[in-house]
Amino acid sequence: MSDLDIRTVTDDDLIEISRIHLAAFPESALTKLGAEAVHRYYHWQLHGPHDCFAIATFGENQTLGFCFGGVFRGALGGFLQKNKKFLFWRVLLRPWLLFNEIFRERLKTAFRSLRIFPTKKKVKKTSILSNPVSSFSILSIAVDPAIQTKGVGKVLMKAVEEEAIRQGYDRIHLTVHPSNTNAIQFYLRVGWIKNEEDPWAGVMYKILSAGELS
Ligand SMILES: CC(C)(COP(=O)(O)OP(=O)(O)OC[C@H]1O[C@@H](n2cnc3c(N)ncnc32)[C@H](O)[C@@H]1OP(=O)(O)O)[C@@H](O)C(=O)NCCC(=O)NCCS
Repeated sequence: MSDLDIRTVTDDDLIEISRIHLAAFPESALTKLGAEAVHRYYHWQLHGPHDCFAIATFGENQTLGFCFGGVFRGALGGFLQKNKKFLFWRVLLRPWLLFNEIFRERLKTAFRSLRIFPTKKKVKKTSILSNPVSSFSILSIAVDPAIQTKGVGKVLMKAVEEEAIRQGYDRIHLTVHPSNTNAIQFYLRVGWIKNEEDPWAGVMYKILSAGELS
């Protein structure tokens, strides 16, 4: 799997990215809101006030997987703020979602992120220079379920870690739902470490070394 075609994601890839998200995260709140919501979410990550490094792997004219990494400023809060009318109608047309425990949990997180999301003015002023504690994270990684466990995820992760090293970061982090045991096994296998805390909230990190650059 090391000879995979890897490219930076553009708007033209978002339909395929959404397809993989829907298939790889069937229980996510975003998936339950439909393909258009997923498309808008990743569009915001590409065009919001982030330093986003998004890549995808391709094989025989098909997208196999993707990874969005980088420094994100309001990945969820900004998305909600920008799409609030659209999302309001989506929930209104799917009222049964409010009875779904996972969805309600995500909704609570979403409201919390809205409270901490800075206003447009503040986001413009916040740059990587004025915010030295900004850190590189993995926002989302997914492989088409038809081709999982064949090495695609590892290739994507390696490419994003190498980009973080190139940008001067020596540490990278992510948050995974503690019940997502498959993803946790994958992260542990590719060298990630669970943050020490009790109870563990799903934060993982990896110490990067410039010697790993290929
Ligand atoms: C998590 C995910 C991205 C991993 O991608 P993948 O292509 O299936 O993983 P790889 O085949 O590259 O696996 C790399 C290594 O992890 C191991 N691994 C992967 N999944 C594993 C599992 N569930 N249990 C144990 N080991 C696992 C592989 O055996 C491999 O080990 P090796 O290097 O010794 O051969 C993919 O399974 C996925 O899309 N899952 C659904 C979406 C998701 O949960 N994303 C994470 C959200 S935080």
